[in-house]
Amino acid sequence: MHLMNFKELSSRELNKLVDDAIEIKHNPEKFEKALEQKSLALVFQKTSTRTRVSFEVAMTQLGGHALFIDWRTTNFGLADLGDEVQYLSRNVDGIMARLMRNADLQKMMQASKVPVINGCDEMYHPSQCLADLITIKEKKGALKGAKLVYIGIHNNVCNSLIEGCTKTGVQLTTVTPIFNDASRDEELLEEAKRTGLWTQSLDVKEAVADADFVYTDTWVDMEFFTDAKFVEEKKKRIEQMMPYQINPELLKASNAYIMHDMPIHRGYEIAAEAIENQKSIIYEQAENRLYSAKAILLKLLTQTD
Ligand code: CP
Repeated sequence: MHLMNFKELSSRELNKLVDDAIEIKHNPEKFEKALEQKSLALVFQKTSTRTRVSFEVAMTQLGGHALFIDWRTTNFGLADLGDEVQYLSRNVDGIMARLMRNADLQKMMQASKVPVINGCDEMYHPSQCLADLITIKEKKGALKGAKLVYIGIHNNVCNSLIEGCTKTGVQLTTVTPIFNDASRDEELLEEAKRTGLWTQSLDVKEAVADADFVYTDTWVDMEFFTDAKFVEEKKKRIEQMMPYQINPELLKASNAYIMHDMPIHRGYEIAAEAIENQKSIIYEQAENRLYSAKAILLKLLTQTD
């Protein structure tokens, strides 16, 4: 089994993954040898802090080993992807990959003899969403009935939240004035609509009013933020999105917890006061990436089929 997104998981399986992660968080000693003698390749075509750290530390704490493979300083950038993965998967027990294009992740999954985990591409970010669900459950005690508002660009993080929330009973409203076309997955959106748990709105004040959680993400992907070719698009996005910034004015009448998947562009999608607000759970949410990684690794690397 690979983990591209949550499509292959039932609601029951996704809820169990959240519960497993919380169990692992509270009883780390029970899992210290669970992946003994196992190796995980971490293939990065893009930058990362949390995804790299969480999967690498997770493997160490589970008794295994992780090796970082940089796209630019290995032959991944030069050779046929299928050939490289055919080789790699004969030496490791799993691959976690952060690639630019979902199409390349699909190629990787086809060529690999071992499970491949999506470490974020332009369409999905499942390990982030699992950490988000863990955080919501910790704060509310249950996923079912929790109300989350996502404010930002409709992107990979938004897609995974739509999947993750609607599969676990979280009521999700997305306020997304801009849709990133590279992230479009109509099948995922249609499936979410059928649950009745996902609504869309552009009235950000009304959406936030009775939310338990308010969540945002960067308006411009990290790799484009300082890219000269992206200057015009960045300017356009900032102008269009600034009325949707999470700041003290928006949160005036709200008691919601504040979430962000990080990295943060302070002063853009979220004001510094909101990051430092006593209702901000951003760093706890980021810490939960470790338990998300552990639960995913235990599920995929110990499967017997
Ligand atoms: N949220 C997240 O994926 O962080 P990194 O890009 O630092 O891995």
